[in-house]
Amino acid sequence: MNHLRTITFIFALAMSLGVMASKTLPVIPYPQHVEEKKGCFDARNGFDIKIADARFESEGRFLNEKLQAAGRQSEITSSEAAVVISYDAGITGDEAYRLTVDNKNIEIAASAPSGAFYGAQTFLQLVDNCEEIPCVTVTDSPRYSWRGFMRDDARHFTGVESVKRFIDLMAYYKLNRFHWHLTDGQGWRIEINKYPRLATVGGIGSHSDPDSPCAYYTQDEIKDIVAYALRRHIMIIPEIDMPGHATAANRAYPEYNGGGEGIFPDFTFNPGKEETYTYLSDILGEVAGLFPGPYMHIGGDEVAYGINAWKVDPYVLDLMKREGFDDVKQCERYFMNRMIAEVAHLGKTLIGWDELLDLDVDRSTNIMWWRHDKPQYLTRSLNAGYTTVMCPRKPLYFDFVQHDTHSVGRIWDGFCPLEDVYAFPDPWFEKIGVSDEMQSHISGMQANAWSELLHNSDRLDFMTWPRLCALAESAWTIRDNKNYDDFRLRLEDAYRLFDNLGIYYFDHRNPERHAEPAGPVIKKKIRESETEYKD
Ligand code: ACM
Repeated sequence: MNHLRTITFIFALAMSLGVMASKTLPVIPYPQHVEEKKGCFDARNGFDIKIADARFESEGRFLNEKLQAAGRQSEITSSEAAVVISYDAGITGDEAYRLTVDNKNIEIAASAPSGAFYGAQTFLQLVDNCEEIPCVTVTDSPRYSWRGFMRDDARHFTGVESVKRFIDLMAYYKLNRFHWHLTDGQGWRIEINKYPRLATVGGIGSHSDPDSPCAYYTQDEIKDIVAYALRRHIMIIPEIDMPGHATAANRAYPEYNGGGEGIFPDFTFNPGKEETYTYLSDILGEVAGLFPGPYMHIGGDEVAYGINAWKVDPYVLDLMKREGFDDVKQCERYFMNRMIAEVAHLGKTLIGWDELLDLDVDRSTNIMWWRHDKPQYLTRSLNAGYTTVMCPRKPLYFDFVQHDTHSVGRIWDGFCPLEDVYAFPDPWFEKIGVSDEMQSHISGMQANAWSELLHNSDRLDFMTWPRLCALAESAWTIRDNKNYDDFRLRLEDAYRLFDNLGIYYFDHRNPERHAEPAGPVIKKKIRESETEYKD
């Protein structure tokens, strides 16, 4: 919706509600400070862009490409230009920027490339959403440094083009962490040269069909995606889940199998075999070489589903005897500490799910709090001083449905509506008792799109959008600047963009517009149940 239509729509809505809504800038996430001035920039002659500081070369060229792709007249010039990207040492924070629009000139100023990139995204949204670009000064920086989205390619594989499309949209909404769940019980999706069967055998099957053709990302594809994301200021964090969720890996290399039970067969790596540590260290070494970011996620969740098998495994029993352990939980701790040392040896910071708190792991570990029904794990993590990312199932798991008319997806004492994603986290802080001091250990928040029931592009889109826009605003915009009604109005622009891109989103204005896509037909239920896990 263009700016004039936005105003008309707001006015109509305000009249119907009997109140006057404020006119705000059509940008998601909403900036911290917006000073609107009189007049508009005349964009009829297109945009000459001058990159006034060589540090911002990549960001300037990216902006130019995006403007051209949107059908705008745009070119880079070294002489005077209407659009200038400049360095300003007075702007504090790598991701901060100032965007100044007056009727003849536009300046994007920052002290670091990320800030220049986000200034350019705000400018691009104004170009996309306004008939005339309003004169304005935007001074902006994010609330959280971790603004993440997790995709699960293990349960259902989507492929390079789909990943890139998500990375493009994440960048547009200033999200900066792509957590890539690449391995799980149903599939191993990353090529490892030293152990090729991980991909060629572990890559066979999916959650809905254990015989579906082999699918995985080659190392060349991963390098290409990492570079693509880097250009968009998105760091990719690979997750190689261990010691649980290892069924696909164990199909490929059964010699490292630690067993499982019931609906979780062959669920764990074997912590009692020395060879397991060599094997996993080799794998992590190759993975570390592919992802230049400082983090390595090694899961650590739900080991309890397979740990009973360790009680009778001769290698584990040997380990227990050797180390003087009287409980298999100590083996889990032993395993994790060895892998933590390995990750440190690779020069990376380890991230794991909140179960790691029970193992009293090193304080350098970053914790992802996911069990919303166990808020004590958030407070424990913060009180112990762990850097913590918040991704509680409710409201931030996007495999939960988002509307009460939906039934394909998780529902567990409720679901994850758009307004809850938008409201997170402040009301939760109040409810759980998270003080300002505790909050200082929170790096940010993230939405997780587990894919057991997200088996194709339509279902992935339908469950993700527009909730990821709400997550983006919650992670970027300070509480005082958030306003759900206003956000819903600004979503009009996102819906128009999604329509143009052919994205099958859930339309909150008209829940019937896009029917809920059917879930996968489960051909044969093996490896993991799709019942709700509660531990
Ligand atoms: C998880 O949802 N098992 C982290």
